[in-house]
Amino acid sequence: MIEQEYLWWQKEILYQIYPRSFKDSNDDGIGDLPGILQKLDYLQELGIKGVWISPFYPSPMADFGYDVSDYIGVHPMFGTIEDFDNLLKEIHNRDMKLILDFVPNHTSNEHPWFQESIKSRDDPKREWYIWKDPGPDGGPPNNWGAAFGGSGWEYDDSTGQYYYHAFLKEQPDLNWRNPEVQEAMFNAMRFWLDKGVDGFRVDVMWHMIKDDQFRDNPINPDYTEDKSPYDKYIQAYNTDQPEVHEIVKKMRNVMDEYDERVMIGEIYLPIDKLVTYYGEDNEGTHLPFNFLLVVLPWDARKIEAAVNEYEGSLPPDGWPNWVLGNHDNSRMATRVGKEQARIAAMLLLTLRGTPTMYYGDEIGMEDVEISADEVMDPQEKNIPGKGLGRDPERTPMQWDDSPNAGFSSAKPWLPIMENYQKINVANELENDNSTLNFYKKLIKLRNNEPALQVGNFIPVPSEENMFSFIREYAGKKFLIALNFGSSEEKCEPGLKDWKGKVKLATHPQKQGEEIKNLVYLGPHQGVILEIIDNQ
Ligand code: GLC
Repeated sequence: MIEQEYLWWQKEILYQIYPRSFKDSNDDGIGDLPGILQKLDYLQELGIKGVWISPFYPSPMADFGYDVSDYIGVHPMFGTIEDFDNLLKEIHNRDMKLILDFVPNHTSNEHPWFQESIKSRDDPKREWYIWKDPGPDGGPPNNWGAAFGGSGWEYDDSTGQYYYHAFLKEQPDLNWRNPEVQEAMFNAMRFWLDKGVDGFRVDVMWHMIKDDQFRDNPINPDYTEDKSPYDKYIQAYNTDQPEVHEIVKKMRNVMDEYDERVMIGEIYLPIDKLVTYYGEDNEGTHLPFNFLLVVLPWDARKIEAAVNEYEGSLPPDGWPNWVLGNHDNSRMATRVGKEQARIAAMLLLTLRGTPTMYYGDEIGMEDVEISADEVMDPQEKNIPGKGLGRDPERTPMQWDDSPNAGFSSAKPWLPIMENYQKINVANELENDNSTLNFYKKLIKLRNNEPALQVGNFIPVPSEENMFSFIREYAGKKFLIALNFGSSEEKCEPGLKDWKGKVKLATHPQKQGEEIKNLVYLGPHQGVILEIIDNQ
C-alpha cells in the first residue's frame, strides 16, 4: 500500500490518442470520438489511466485541429457534443480520466474572433491578436520566423498591418497580454472542466507571451542547412518570456477552482528553463512535459546524465514526468531501433515520474514512409525534404489483419503500415512474447508496485552501454538494468552481498532468473529485478 497521498496523475500512466488515427466508427477514413469509445476496454485492459486526446474541436484543419475555430464544440468529423459527453461518462465509469488538448497560443484564422479582428484597425477585437505596422523598409516588423517556415508576420492589405503567427498563417497568435483574451480562454477551460474533464495538455505553453518591445531575434551560430529555416535564429524574444509565468499561474488558478485536475504544459526547452514552469511555490503547471527521451540521442551515458540533471533540477514539490513519443516526433521504435524498443518502454515506465505513452507504441508501430502525393502535414509541405514531416508517426492504429487494419472500412486519411498483418492488436494478444503482451506485463508490474510508481530514484553507477538505477519504497527495492548496446554488459549495483529475482525481462529466457551480486545482460536486454536479500 502507498501510505502518503499521491494524486492520480502522479501514480498513473497517461496515453495520447491522435483522434484522426485511432478508430473510425463512421467509415469516412478518419477516426472519431465514437471510435475511441469502442476501444475504451482495450485501454482499460492495457492498464492505463489517463487518456489525452489531441484536438477534436471545430477547425478548418490547416494544422489538423491545432487551428481551433471554436473552443467549446466538437468538429462534426469527430462526432457531436453528445458523443463527447458519452465518451467522458464511459471513461469515468471505467475509473479512468480524460485530458483534453487546449490550444491557447493561437486560434484558426477562421475563428470569429480573428474574423472580427481583421476587419478594421479599430474593431473591438483588434487587440485580441498581435497586429503591428510594417518595419521601416515596409517589410515585416521584425525578423521573427514561423515554426512552419517563412516569416512569422503576415500582411493584411486592407488594414495595412501585419499579424504575428508562430506557426501557419492560418494560426494567428492571440494577444495574451489582453485581459479580455485571458477571460475568454479561461471560460473555455471552465466549459470543459464543468463537464468533468480531468485536465488539459496545454499546447506550446512557452510561446504564449512575446517580448513587448518586439526585438529582433539573434542569429543562431549553430544553424546548418539541414535544419528548419526557423532555426536560423534563436527564439529569444518570441518564446519563453518572463511574463508567461503569470499567465500559467492564472491558468493554474482556473484548474484549482476544481478538484484534482491536472495541467500539463507542452514545452520544448532545456532542463533549467523547463523546470521554471512548475512555477514559484509550485503554482505553475503540474507537469511541464519532459521530452528528454524524445530529443536526446539513444545513448546510455547521455540519457543517464540527463536523468540525473533533471532529477537534480526539480523544485522541492515538482513531480517529474517522461514522454517517449508523440504526434510531432518520429516514432519511438524507429528512433531507437526495433531491438531497443523494449528497453525504451522499460525505461519510460520505471523512471520516477508520470509516463506518457503514444498510441500504437505498445504494439511496436513504426514510422510509415509517406510518398510525395500522400503528404498531409503542412510542415512537410512548407519545408519539404528535411525529414520534418509528421505524417509518418500519425498513421492509423493497427487493430487486426483485416483490410485497413480494422481501423476503417474506407480508405484511411494516411496510409497504413505495410506489415500491419503481423503488427496489430488482435495478433499480438495471441502471442505471449509480443510487444503488446510485454507492455501489458510491464504496466501491470508498475501498477502493482508502489516502488515503481512513486518510489525513490537511486542512481547506480554504470558503465559503457548499461544504464541502471534502483527504485525503492517502504523497504522494497527494484533494480532496473538496461543494456543500450549490442554486446554483453554487466551491472554491479554497489550493494553488499545481495540476491534478486527478475520480475520482468525484455527477453523471455531471463524471466524469473535468480541473480546474485552481478547482473549480466546480453545485447539489448533489460530487466526489472526485485532485490530480495541485501545486507
Ligand atoms: C504543438 C502541437 C503540434 C502543432 C503545434 C501548433 O506543438 O503538438 O502538433 O502543430 O503545436 O499548434
